[in-house]
Amino acid sequence: MRNRLFAVAALFESPDKIIKAADAVASQGFRKFDVNTPYPVHGMDKAMKLKPSKLGFVTLFFGLTGTAIGLILTYWTMSVDYPLVIGGKPFFALPAFIPILFELTVLLATLATVFGMFAFFFNLPHNDHPIHDTEYMKMTSYDKYGIYIESADEHFDESKIKRLFTDLGAVKIYDLAYPEKITYPIFEPKFVTFLIITFVAVSGATYLTLNKLLYITPFNWMMDQLREDVQDVSQYLPDQPSMRTPVQGTVARGFIPYPYKGINNPTEVLTNPILPTQENLNLGRKKYLSYCSPCHGNFGNGDSRLRGQFPNPPTLHSKRAREFSDGMIYHIITNGQNVMPSYESQVTREERWAIVNYIRVLQRAKNAQESDLEVAKKEFEKNAAQ
Ligand code: HEC
Repeated sequence: MRNRLFAVAALFESPDKIIKAADAVASQGFRKFDVNTPYPVHGMDKAMKLKPSKLGFVTLFFGLTGTAIGLILTYWTMSVDYPLVIGGKPFFALPAFIPILFELTVLLATLATVFGMFAFFFNLPHNDHPIHDTEYMKMTSYDKYGIYIESADEHFDESKIKRLFTDLGAVKIYDLAYPEKITYPIFEPKFVTFLIITFVAVSGATYLTLNKLLYITPFNWMMDQLREDVQDVSQYLPDQPSMRTPVQGTVARGFIPYPYKGINNPTEVLTNPILPTQENLNLGRKKYLSYCSPCHGNFGNGDSRLRGQFPNPPTLHSKRAREFSDGMIYHIITNGQNVMPSYESQVTREERWAIVNYIRVLQRAKNAQESDLEVAKKEFEKNAAQ
């Protein structure tokens, strides 16, 4: 027995003929028909009298939905649920949220377009179009141009359509029937029942374990132990935070505190443990220029760039400063001196010694002796001779 007829289809030899056929079919008032060609044929939309696709509206709708979700999300999280001042901006700092709005708009719009295409063009959720797996389909993906009119069309008349196709110069005409219904074993009631029972059993067991069993002694011991939650009010010290500041004098592991902290004019200082290698001096120069030069000037002359905003420091080329031991300069960086603040937290220990070494270079350069010039002269002559 033949299955119910789905459509009558015809194959044509050339693109001109298929355009003519599509035009004729559309002109006769058929609406439920489609054309299959091995490649896109120009002018086909016009010949088939297709209206512009409605897909754009789906994209627009979901795009705007994305924008709205973005707005609600950013507003709710940043102004209602967890208001947080970031960089002095207002809670609802729209310009900062534009990337989020944009991303959500694009995300929903593209996903909607892709799934919309599946739904519009492939009739999702169905994936078994009756023209699949037919000789007609094979030929139209090879070198023929095909057209079919569905039996569901209100003007459908099998013999009339066949005559029309023959008149238009069809090389072959097919009756396309609905395919046999295939039954899949996983949809059998027995299997479905088995799936449902498994699902219910596993969910039930999980629910009972997580919501009941874990609250029964002794399983609850772990969760009921005394503890302080971070950023909460302390249970033991009312009105104080649960996170305590370390006891005064606490020292981090592996950290040796600076022994002369807080002492002005110490009688004892550290000795410089770091040699002034080229690499070390480069580091010192870099750190000096970042952290010291704003006040002390690029060459230590005390020509501050912060004139009028901060007291001018003395020159680092005074006799006093040149006679400082390395450890003393290190001490001034670490501890500060009078109005000069401590730079302990800006520069590491190693960087501090590098700065000390670099200041020594500046001092030496500014206060060169006759003997230094001799050395430089010899060096110069040696280079010139080469
Ligand atoms: C904000 C400005 C400022 C910065 C930055 C600064 N200093 Fe000073 N520094 C001063 C002032 C002001 C004094 C003078 C303090 C005083 O009255 O004893 C001073 C004093 C000194 C002295 C002692 C000079 C002397 O003859 O007593 C040394 C050494 C020194 N600074 C080194 C540094 C080093 C190294 C850095 C970079 C890590 C640095 N300073 C960064 C402002 C600054």
